[in-house]
Amino acid sequence: MTFPTRRLRRLRRTPALRRLVAEHSVTVDDLVAPLFVKEGLTGPQPILSMPGVMQHTQESLRTEVRALRDLGVPAVILFGIPSAKDGRGSAADDPDGVVQVALRNLRDEVGDSLVLMVDTCLDEYTDHGHCGILTPAGEVDNDDTLDRLRSICVAQARAGADVIAPSGMMDGMVGAIRGALDDAGFDDRLVLSYAVKYASAEYGPFRDAGECAPQFGDRRGYQMDPANAREALDEVLLDIDEGADMVMVKPALSYLDVIAEVRSVVNVPLAAYHVSGEYSMLKAAAANGWIDGHQVAWEHLVSIKRAGADIILTYLAREIAEELNG
Ligand code: PBG
Repeated sequence: MTFPTRRLRRLRRTPALRRLVAEHSVTVDDLVAPLFVKEGLTGPQPILSMPGVMQHTQESLRTEVRALRDLGVPAVILFGIPSAKDGRGSAADDPDGVVQVALRNLRDEVGDSLVLMVDTCLDEYTDHGHCGILTPAGEVDNDDTLDRLRSICVAQARAGADVIAPSGMMDGMVGAIRGALDDAGFDDRLVLSYAVKYASAEYGPFRDAGECAPQFGDRRGYQMDPANAREALDEVLLDIDEGADMVMVKPALSYLDVIAEVRSVVNVPLAAYHVSGEYSMLKAAAANGWIDGHQVAWEHLVSIKRAGADIILTYLAREIAEELNG
């Protein structure tokens, strides 16, 4: 053989060749669109820190979900913002709570042509903004919170949710939810655990959208320390043991090593959440003309696939799906 061989250059010569030898791709089938629905709005409300993302009314949510379904997006995940919050997040399991109403409407609208996922957590529903019930000392009580999650997941399943996605990082949350669903006759509903959720500042814009910033302290007592990777395996293996059907790593880009590591030890479908801050950083830089937002969006998503995720939750879902359909 003579050197240089130019073998690698030959493989990259034309767009068709590059397409042929691509190891990974992003397709519409990989995408889950996160959507916010807020009680008491008179019209959809743009979220300033997340250009292109809205807090929806029940009406505008229906329209958006129909459009996503028509584009071939297989799933959405819903976040509800109630008009009244209290210490125990009472609206979260109210049969007429904002997310339950949305689930019933959407089930009616799209039947089984789209997977309805729902975030199962208390932070959008509590007046203190924490993901659980507080002790008198102001700590999140793990087991009191599990009791609330048992009731919330059943209300969500009854309203039509296909997939319950607990995001509160309580120990034992998957087992508690699986048990409650089975006992209530919902053994056909899935649990997608936010198994590996870091205490990340990249959730900042989401807290505007979900109106759920903690009113004191932070979430480091229950979410993971960004310094830890081995602990992620502990989290996913426990959740699978407790009955998780799918697991998630969140955020995505700062934790691609964790996605790859988790992929190498689990066989259940693996999701990654390209979170609000990742989306907003991309949009802000693109709006300033500092990066090509379109190209960077593709790089973000394909890198998440390359790391090993099967499913990507992303606020880019609609624009990417439009492009793939175009
Ligand atoms: C909690 C929840 C959060 C996100 C999803 N579920 C916020 C948090 O933990 O503070 C963040 C998602 C994002 O940033 O896009 N219900």
